[in-house]
Formats: sequence, structure tokens, C-alpha cells
Amino acid sequence: MSEEKLKQPVSESHRVTTSGDIEVGTYLEIAKEIAGQQSVSAKEAVPETEREAIIVIDFGSQYSMLIARRVRECHVYCELVAHDTPWEKIAPLNPKGFILSGGPASVYEPGAPLAPAYIYEKHLPVLGICYGMQVITHQLGGRVTRGNKQEYGHAVLHLGAADSPLFADLSQSSPVWMSHGDSIDELPPGFTALAYTENTPVAVMGSKNGIFGFQFHPEVAHTPEGKTILRNFVYKVCGCKGNWTMGSFVNDSLAKIRGQVCGGKVISALSGGVDSSVVAILIHRAIGDQLTCIFVNNGLLRREEVERTFNVFRLNMGMNIVYVDASERFLSRLKGVIDPEQKRKAIGEEFIRVFEEEANKIGQVDFLAQGTLYPDVIESISSVSKASAKIKTHHNVGGLPARMTLKLLEPLRFLFKDEVRQVGLALGLPEEMVWRQPFPGPGLAIRIIGEVNKEKLEILRSADFIVMNEIKKAKLYRQLWQSFAILTDVKSVGVMGDYRTYGYLVAIRAVTSEDAMTADWARLPYDLLARISNRIVNEVPGVNRVVYDITSKPPSTIEWE
Ligand code: XMP
Repeated sequence: MSEEKLKQPVSESHRVTTSGDIEVGTYLEIAKEIAGQQSVSAKEAVPETEREAIIVIDFGSQYSMLIARRVRECHVYCELVAHDTPWEKIAPLNPKGFILSGGPASVYEPGAPLAPAYIYEKHLPVLGICYGMQVITHQLGGRVTRGNKQEYGHAVLHLGAADSPLFADLSQSSPVWMSHGDSIDELPPGFTALAYTENTPVAVMGSKNGIFGFQFHPEVAHTPEGKTILRNFVYKVCGCKGNWTMGSFVNDSLAKIRGQVCGGKVISALSGGVDSSVVAILIHRAIGDQLTCIFVNNGLLRREEVERTFNVFRLNMGMNIVYVDASERFLSRLKGVIDPEQKRKAIGEEFIRVFEEEANKIGQVDFLAQGTLYPDVIESISSVSKASAKIKTHHNVGGLPARMTLKLLEPLRFLFKDEVRQVGLALGLPEEMVWRQPFPGPGLAIRIIGEVNKEKLEILRSADFIVMNEIKKAKLYRQLWQSFAILTDVKSVGVMGDYRTYGYLVAIRAVTSEDAMTADWARLPYDLLARISNRIVNEVPGVNRVVYDITSKPPSTIEWE
């Protein structure tokens, strides 16, 4: 698609689809909305003197990241750090308290990770969770033993000292989630037991100088009053004020980006996904035309995606966008490629080439902006993170050109995905764009089983467009992690009118998920499935059969390739 063609206004027929759906194709309205919005007020910036943070010391629990999210939900900034992080790295955050996470180790094992000395020397409140509680006990002179009654799963917590600030607004007895083999056998000097469960006499312990331990996990959803307990710790024990909002984040970020970039030039890959869009809009708000976004059309995008992205960011937000139509290049590179990993590799390599070529044309560039998020950062810094087997080599357009010798600008590296969405909203991106379902970097290529070609791409685009419209019309789009069509390489016999047909089999996939690590197939209403199927076989030439994928992840994955 040429750039000139892109600049044409959207036709009426694009705006209102055959199904009467008006959500897809209304990007000009969306863009106007963005241009008119200025939702972050300058007064939300947090002065240096009022900065506050809770630091989570990570001992490798699968729930560590969740603790940080829960604290941030209380509007208090929270960072997760490896257990051996020196004080000098933490001090600038102005910590108001520490949380020691759970972890798989046992404090008596040789080499078991322990808390650094500053945790006890800085006279700041400390909360140990599960293994974190055992670390405190061990280091402060108590005793931890392998309990003869281990506790995994639900338990009922009974408060012993209801006057503790930690227990404000808590029920006398409430369900909690336990997951421990070791227990506190002897409290450290100066500590008292504050709550118990049937199998754990010391389920909560505390000292007068603000050090507490929980044997249960307040951060998980299975502990319904866990949020209240963490909120109590953060506000009533640590004395936080709660000034971490997305508005304050945006204002801080604008200042930081300006300070970091000065008069330099920044490039960024724009894919139209949430992360790359929020990065672009944030940096553009900070430094305007010093940012150039490169938008590569790899020919593997969904219907209307190219126009939507280009129009919103270039025409309506006035951003500097280099649009590259590289679809022919990608298609010829994919000729004869059937293996999913080979497809990813080919697309990844081609993307780097195109991106580098375009970047070179821009001239002197100093920074590469990327939409790196906090979970990626945590994964790469955690000294106790577990190695996991590689199932697929994910190709993410934002993360590729690492070999370019540019300084990295990663303004979202301390945000979780839901926070990125909130930042998008705070910057005036409408919900439509902020709540887009994830779309893989290799695009439709990994949703076409077998070789990719123009004809198959067109079939898949049409089928996918119908799925998206119907899901949106049924108001299910946001509830689903992803919903899309797959073009299989199966052909089957059908009958249309009095004629025999021999057409493609299209599969529909719709899943619910928290984080894409696991997923369940969505129980879509039968009549919705029937509508989707009917429309696909009637409106998409070459398709005569539709099936619905009813497998979860694991054992399947979300994408078919
Ligand atoms: P799977 O298929 O592994 O997908 O269950 C999990 C999530 O990742 C997305 N996905 C990708 N994203 N590049 C990406 O940027 C890729 O190569 C890729 N493969 C899968 C998928 O859409 C789902 O959200």
C-alpha cells in the first residue's frame, strides 16, 4: 500500500461494515479524540522530596511479581530487586519499607539466600512473606523447622492480636492461602505471635520495631483479605502517602525522557500494538519531532491495521512516521517456508534488515526506543529465576534490532501491562486502542498453516475481520485474551446450492488468560459461533467449513504455530 493511498480519508464503507459494526474502521474518529485530549495535569508530578517506594526483596517465589503489583494497586511505587542488591541501588528510590518474598529454598540449606544486613539496620518496616518470614526468624535468632504438618492450599486465619495496625478492617477469621513446608518453631527475641491457623501456630508474627512475618500469601487472589493486609502494611505501618498514579508516572517520565535525550534523535518501531503505541505517544509528548517512528508493513497485518495505525499517529497526532511497505519482500522471503520456527526466523531477520535500512536513511540517530515492560526486566535481573524450556522463539517487533549500536530508551521498563494501558489512557489514547488484544510480531504468517501466500492472506484477513466484528458486537472483546481465525492447510468437500465445493477449513480460537502463560478456551455462546461460521462460509470465498478450537494451554499453545 502506498503512502499516498494511506492518506486518503477512510471510506464510508470502511466505517460501517456489512455487519453494522462501527468499532472497526473508525480510526479517524479515534484519532480526533486523541488530538483533543490532554488528560494528565502537571500538578500530578511528585516532587523529589515526596518520593516513596516499597522494595520487594526477591527470593524466587512464583508470586514475587504479584506482590509488587498489589502494592502498586495501593498507589505506592514498588520495585522488585534480587536479594543481593546493594543498598546504594535502592537508596535513591527513598524506600519506606521492605517486603521479603517467598521462595523455594529452606533457610537451613547450604547457600540459601538471606536478607542483606541493611534490611535490619535501616530501621524501616519489614514484612516477610512465607520464606521471607523464615529468613527473618533465622537471621534474628529464632528457629525454623521442617514442620510435621505442611500446609498447602486454603486455611483459616484467626487473629490473636486484633489491635495490630496490620489487622485494621480485617475479619476476626478469614481464608488465607498457604504454601509452606517449613514453619516457625521458636520466635526470634522481641517477637510475638499475632495470628494462627489450625496447623500453624505462628501464622503471623510481629515485633515492636515494625518487623512482621506472614506464613501465608496475602498477594494471591485466594487470600481475599490479602489486599487489605498489604494496604495496612503500606499505609499504617510504613506511613506511605500513596502518590503513585499513572498521571504522576507520565509527568515524571516526560521530565526523564527530556533529560536523557537532550537534543538527540530517537527512533522507534511502531507496530500499532499497545506497548509500541504508548511508548511512541509518551516520547512524542516529551520531545516531539526528535522522535521518528518506523512503521513496517510486513504484509502480514490484519485488515485496516495499516491505515488505522498510520492515520492515528501520523495524520492526526502529527507524529513523524516513516511508513515502509515491505510486504513483497516479506512474502518472497516466506516462499516455500512451512516450518513455524523458520517463518519466525525469516520474518525476524527481514524486519531487522528493513528497520536498519530505514534507520540509516534518517541519518544521525542516538536512541532506540523500546516497549520493554517490567516482567521482562524482572526475568532478566532475577538471580533466582528458573530456567524454562523454549517452546517458541517469540519475535517481537519492538525488541529486535538490539545489535544496533544505539542507546536504549525504555520508558515503560518499570510498568506492568495493566499500568501501560492506564498510561495510554492518561495520555489520551481511547479505550479502543488501549484494550487491543495482543497480536504476534510475525502476524498472520503464524496463523496460516503451511506456506504463506497472497491468496491465503486475503482469505484469513476476511475471516479474521468477521471474527473480530462479531466478538466486538457481542461485547466480548475485552473479556477475551485473544480471539482470531486460523487458516488451516486442510481442504474438505462441501455443498453449496447444488454444487460440490472443495474449500479451506478455517479454525476459530478464542481464549481467556491472565498472562498468556496458561489459557483456557472461551465458552463462546453457540449462537455467536453459529453467526461467525455462517458469515465466514457465506462471505469468504474459498472457505466451506469452520471449526472451533476447544483446547487449553497447556497442552496446546494459543497460536497454532
Ligand atoms: P503461545 O502461542 O506461545 O502465545 O501460547 C503466547 C502469546 O504470545 C503471542 N505470540 C507471539 N508474540 N511474537 C510475538 O510478539 C511471536 O513470535 C509470538 N508467538 C506467540 C501469542 O499471540 C500469545 O499472546
